Amino acid sequence: MAIPSSTIAIPATAVTPRHVAIIMDGNGRWAKQRFLPRIAGHRRGVENVRSTVRGCVDKGIEYLTLFAFSSENWRRPADEVSFLMQLFIAALEQEVAKLHENGVRFRVIGDLSRFEKPLRRLVSDAETLTRDNTRLTLTIAANYGGRWDIIQAVARMLKDHPQLAAGFTETDLQPFLSLAYAPEPDLFVRTGGEQRISNFLLWQLAYTEMYFTDTLWPDFDTAAFDLAIASYQRRERRFGRTSEQLREGDGAQKLPQAQAADGR
Ligand code: IPE
Ligand code: IPE
Ligand code: MG
Repeated sequence: MAIPSSTIAIPATAVTPRHVAIIMDGNGRWAKQRFLPRIAGHRRGVENVRSTVRGCVDKGIEYLTLFAFSSENWRRPADEVSFLMQLFIAALEQEVAKLHENGVRFRVIGDLSRFEKPLRRLVSDAETLTRDNTRLTLTIAANYGGRWDIIQAVARMLKDHPQLAAGFTETDLQPFLSLAYAPEPDLFVRTGGEQRISNFLLWQLAYTEMYFTDTLWPDFDTAAFDLAIASYQRRERRFGRTSEQLREGDGAQKLPQAQAADGR
């Protein structure tokens, strides 16, 4: 069944965010503070992914989407790019079996065509192995760009349904977006102090709650994650309605299409 869009139906919300999307930024600065090479920061960053995944399972978060490498990160020095690729390969080799044991479904979004074959093979094997797991869906965005995502979705949609060139809707496009299998993120987190989206999930963040912290990614521990969740829990998610409507408990009920289509 198609996942409802926040602009078409008001999504069901809960105390615990169902989907958290994170820009893991600040590895380089973390290393610099310690007079270490940038790559030492990336190594610590991967370790922190491990504890963040555990944290999500403990908290009952169902989807975690992590920005690991943007379509613009190729602009970095070649040796840093190549180290990041090696780190990705090593992490896949070491972690996938453990993810599977823990009931984690693993997915990668992004333009994988630019990756070398062994890495693409590791990714598709990991996705196949874990595809029926239901505890947590961990998505890694690699060579991902929000603009690329929208363009690839339109292109694939028109290939399958050429008649839609005359006009199409959000509902036509949604199944072709990279994260079509997930509800839209409830909470966006960016570590490392910058307050920008850097071409991450442009479409999917339409009604996501944004949280920015100066904490550098390798330092973003359980306590820091708890602060982000606590901030989320103080937000009023109106999706275009007024506070009064929310207090009176109407709005959602009065719109016939607003039921939680995912049955929660
Ligand atoms: C984020 O950390 C990791 C990647 C982009 C791969 P950075 O490497 O951007 O760290 P800073 O922003 O330079 O501190
Ligand atoms: C965003 O971080 C991408 C990832 C964390 C993978 P960057 O460090 O590349 O973002 P900018 O360049 O500061 O916007
Ligand atoms: Mg950065």
